[in-house]
Amino acid sequence: MDNTYKSKVSGYTHDGRGVVKENHLAFIDGAIRNETITYTLTQTGNKFSQGKVVDVLSRSENRVNPPCKYYDICGGCHVQHMNETEERDFKKEAVLNTLRRHIKDIEVNDTVELDELYYYRNKTVFAVREQRGKVVIGQFQKNGKDVVDIDHCMIQKRSHNEIIEVLRKLIVKYDISIYNEEKHTGFLRHLIIRSNHDDSEIQIVFVTNGKSYTFKPLVDELVQDARITSVIQNIHTERTNLVTSYNSVVRYGKSYIVDELLNKQFKVKDLSFYQVNHEITEKMYSEAIERAALTKTDVVIDAYSGIGTIGQLLADKVDEVIGVEIVESAVEDARDNAKLNDIKNATYINGKAEEKIKEIVNEKHIDVLFIDPPRKGCDRTFLDTVLQVEPERIVYISCNPATLGRDLKILSEKYTIGSVTPYNMFSKTYHVEALVPLTRKND
Ligand SMILES: C[S@@+](CC[C@H](N)C(=O)[O-])C[C@H]1O[C@@H](n2cnc3c(N)ncnc32)[C@H](O)[C@@H]1O
Repeated sequence: MDNTYKSKVSGYTHDGRGVVKENHLAFIDGAIRNETITYTLTQTGNKFSQGKVVDVLSRSENRVNPPCKYYDICGGCHVQHMNETEERDFKKEAVLNTLRRHIKDIEVNDTVELDELYYYRNKTVFAVREQRGKVVIGQFQKNGKDVVDIDHCMIQKRSHNEIIEVLRKLIVKYDISIYNEEKHTGFLRHLIIRSNHDDSEIQIVFVTNGKSYTFKPLVDELVQDARITSVIQNIHTERTNLVTSYNSVVRYGKSYIVDELLNKQFKVKDLSFYQVNHEITEKMYSEAIERAALTKTDVVIDAYSGIGTIGQLLADKVDEVIGVEIVESAVEDARDNAKLNDIKNATYINGKAEEKIKEIVNEKHIDVLFIDPPRKGCDRTFLDTVLQVEPERIVYISCNPATLGRDLKILSEKYTIGSVTPYNMFSKTYHVEALVPLTRKND
């Protein structure tokens, strides 16, 4: 067959594609390490090419048939063809290989995961489009612009799947106008569902290209489901591929849901960050607190604090917690959460961590620093300030091994890097969360 090659798969790329080296360097979708496969190239390049499996000649014992009927076309999952062991090992190796590019001597523990690798996402973000005369709701395709019409997504919570089905019917029943990305016309762009751990509070966000509330009859019918305690309209009229704008209006119930995390309560508003996998988050934050070896006299900075989760989970073990967060509504949530949890030793500052940390360290001696930045990692000026004031212990939590490695390299000038634990926060996708404790050298 033309353009079909045969090779053994030697390992993985960071995003879970198989690496073949025998004919040329190529990254192959759907290939498992140590298998011999035939594949075709979908894209050729000077340094490497990309391809997809045609046939598996020697099947790995770690290959499984993907259970989801949309797996081949949908862009939401990447490693459903791996069994638990393979996914766990792939993620450990992805973290190790990425970090080793920056730091030679680094130890990575086994990936921590749950028994249930499906039905975990407590936040669903689905696009709504009209394709070939039909309303479609789902994720964008793996390689394409269309939305995959998903009637059951195996990584979303089951309650979210039920609600999407109801919404699908109501959107048709009430003849809601659907957004057209190319023409920037039509009304409903995205649906977002967020729920607490026992589904006693569920929030629905309608992202709309316009501010009219003509879909009130739909909402009135939707909220017959008593689990739905908050309905938000996010008015998003810009022509961008950002899912939401900063303009949210409460259309029913409260502006937030309340979730319980390690026996503390947290209000979460629609625009605030909140980890998507409740059970693994509890495991990860417990380890973060344990590995910080906190004492009653410690002053702690919770940098990139979001709605205040990490700092409030440890507040009773330390003297003081200072959170820094850029999103104003998340800071409001964090302050409300401190009240909700009867925590009196936590304060929150709204602003950029890289700017605010300088003001904090001018006034206070810091013992422990928690760092939990977005994917782009920390600003260099933030890390420079850390190196100047040298808090004794640091715990860094990251959702991007590449920026984690870059930042650890900078911090390694003055810190010993402890063993890294990968957490399978986003199972069935290639994404992975990692936790690293650091201690000041010569202590
Ligand atoms: C990965 S989240 C962590 C939130 C929180 N620690 C938690 O576990 O829920 C990163 C947070 O950093 C915030 N953020 C992004 N850039 C920032 C910056 N330059 N300074 C302070 N906060 C920032 C985001 O709004 C988000 O809440």
